Amino acid sequence: MAHLELDNITVRFGGLVALSKLSFSINSGEIVGLIGPNGAGKTTVFNVLTGVYKAGSGEVRFEGESILGKRPHEIFSKGVARTFQNIRLFSAMTAVENAMVARHCRSKKGVVGAIFRTISQRKEERVCNGAWKSPVPWLPSPRYFCWTNRPPA
Ligand SMILES: Nc1ncnc2c1ncn2[C@@H]1O[C@H](COP(=O)(O)OP(=O)(O)OP(=O)(O)O)[C@@H](O)[C@H]1O
Ligand SMILES: [Mg+2]
Repeated sequence: MAHLELDNITVRFGGLVALSKLSFSINSGEIVGLIGPNGAGKTTVFNVLTGVYKAGSGEVRFEGESILGKRPHEIFSKGVARTFQNIRLFSAMTAVENAMVARHCRSKKGVVGAIFRTISQRKEERVCNGAWKSPVPWLPSPRYFCWTNRPPA
């Protein structure tokens, strides 16, 4: 069974056919690139895969289950993540906090825990923070980055 499967996907924007009967599959452990000229439809593929756009026809399966028509957060919770062509960081948050946002699907404590800062919520946050690894080996502590992108007071 393919890990990820696109089957006959067609996406239209008015009269423009961005994707026409696109099919491909990716097996577990494969690393695959998607290349093509500007306007070929690459971003549209990612938008369909992640539920941002809805395909007019076709099917998308992840681990054998149809994810077409599911909402982005539902697809994300199944393990399909993406980055965007134009990134938008939360400017009031530190670099580590921005990285932690991407891990929210791995956390269990909800809004109530976050508001009241319960012991279990703080513990989970510490685990999440510690799981963030510095990309620079000689800067081992994520704490180093904590204040780097704060706007000047
Ligand atoms: N929301 C939209 N509304 C209308 N047309 C769109 C929309 N999104 C994409 N298109 C059109 O669909 C086609 C494919 O666009 P897409 O952005 O997927 O291409 P791309 O391969 O990612 O291009 P690039 O290399 O420039 O990022 C283009 O003709 C684009 O203008
Ligand atoms: Mg693109």
